[in-house]
Amino acid sequence: MLPNIDFTSTQSYKYLTDHYLDILTKNLKDLFAADSQRFEKFSLHFEDILLDYSKNRIDEETIALLIQLACECGVNKAIEAMFSGDRINVTEDRPVLHIALRNRANTPILVDGKDVMPDVNAVLQHMKEFSEAIISGSWKGYTGKPITDVVNIGIGGSDLGPVMVTEALKAYKNHLTMHFVSNVDGTHIAETLKDLDAETTLFLIASKTFTTQETMGNAHSARDWFIEKGGKDEDVAKHFAALSTNSEGVEKFGIDTKNMFEFWDWVGGRYSLWSAIGLSIALSVGFDNFEELLSGAHAMDNHFKTAELEENLPVALALVGIWHNNFFEAETQAILPYDQYMHRFAAYFQQGDMESNGKHVDRNGKHVDYQTGPVIWGEPGTNGQHAFYQLIHQGTKLIPCDFIAPAQSHNPLGEHHNMLLSNFFAQTEALMNGKTEEEVIAELKKAGKSEEKIGQIVPFKVFEGNRPTNSILIKKITPYSLGSLIAMYEHKIFVQGIIWNIYSFDQWGVELGKQLAGKILPELKDDVEVTSHDSSTNGLINQYKAWR
Ligand code: F6P
Repeated sequence: MLPNIDFTSTQSYKYLTDHYLDILTKNLKDLFAADSQRFEKFSLHFEDILLDYSKNRIDEETIALLIQLACECGVNKAIEAMFSGDRINVTEDRPVLHIALRNRANTPILVDGKDVMPDVNAVLQHMKEFSEAIISGSWKGYTGKPITDVVNIGIGGSDLGPVMVTEALKAYKNHLTMHFVSNVDGTHIAETLKDLDAETTLFLIASKTFTTQETMGNAHSARDWFIEKGGKDEDVAKHFAALSTNSEGVEKFGIDTKNMFEFWDWVGGRYSLWSAIGLSIALSVGFDNFEELLSGAHAMDNHFKTAELEENLPVALALVGIWHNNFFEAETQAILPYDQYMHRFAAYFQQGDMESNGKHVDRNGKHVDYQTGPVIWGEPGTNGQHAFYQLIHQGTKLIPCDFIAPAQSHNPLGEHHNMLLSNFFAQTEALMNGKTEEEVIAELKKAGKSEEKIGQIVPFKVFEGNRPTNSILIKKITPYSLGSLIAMYEHKIFVQGIIWNIYSFDQWGVELGKQLAGKILPELKDDVEVTSHDSSTNGLINQYKAWR
């Protein structure tokens, strides 16, 4: 079972509160000047991943106290509980075993006394055979043509993971064209179907529950389109597959259960890209590469499980995040990949992190009196630099940033990668060092500005600096290293949830809106005036009815 400790009542938290006041008086620039070993002290390697967290407002005492905090909160015990299949998702009464999906060592993992690995391996084998048949063209559509286009219909975890990974691994792509439909807005499916040929299109209906309104709506529209285009009911089997835990729902929809790729309730939606939900990934980059992705994640799992807390990359990321979130009161965290292929990485972990740790009730059912999960956001560099970095550099909010970049590009075009990386390095340096008034004056003098002009402009050109960043440098984005990177962030979220004493693996907060939408939908079917809600909701619904 998970430990149940209010982290604000620990000894280390009290020490950290005092220590924070000390750190507040220090400047990152001075900390670097005073210690030539700072980079070595505050950076960690895991295989081809370097995590440099030295440009944060920390010193050795900070890290020692944060590690003590992790120990007092039972992080080691919690890791053990997750890996052993304990029912740590208490509010849904389930284990949390995405680590089993990528358990390449194939060691037994027991749920209720039964090893889950044979089932995991059987589904992987099914995915391998199916993806190889589609990619090779031996699988034929209803008129005998091979598949050219794959449409994944899913939302949340059943969409974001597959989209993010297929984009991040585009350099490994085969001839199949991938499409992802998530939004219930009819525009999404309509625009996607516009250029598709029913004879050569495969639909993957990706839904853990197979009840999600958006996905079911889009799946039915896809099926209607397929029939309209000439497919018969008996042809559906050649063009529709289901990725789900709900075999009854799949059968009811009319998908042959032979084309169902199963997973289990111990896989959280936002942790499901490693499961059958990853079929679109296997189709896009081939099953071998999908296995490489699993292997990379498995390697990170082993590191997370066995490395000392001081040497543990996910733990370091988590603790530095807690330092910013709970002591510096930073409300957000930016994720900034300097890799165009990773353009959905921040969006992916927006769900991963915010759906996991966006909780205000602790493991005792009590309202917390401290901050939990931050707002996660970000865009790829260098686009972000020309959009929102102004606020990060000179705004009034403290925004801790994770900069992520590969050392080797898949597209080594002239000076492009050096230009990209020079921006990465420059941004973290600029955020740390800032620019003093003296430096600004000297620069303006050198540019020949008058004393009067200099006097007017100096305050606007000063950068305070002292702004925290992590730098994550990866040798190259491969299926393996991407697997490790994703797993690193997943485990970071886990450690933070443990310390905040919340349940990271449920998502009750998305239910209320779903329920109310279900209640409102029938009210939209006719033109009768609606009076059953508050005046704002009634007013909006009635105006919608008048205008539609
Ligand atoms: O947004 C809520 C949620 O339950 C997510 O956790 C999940 O990833 C998504 O909906 C989709 O759910 P399903 O895979 O069951 O369709």
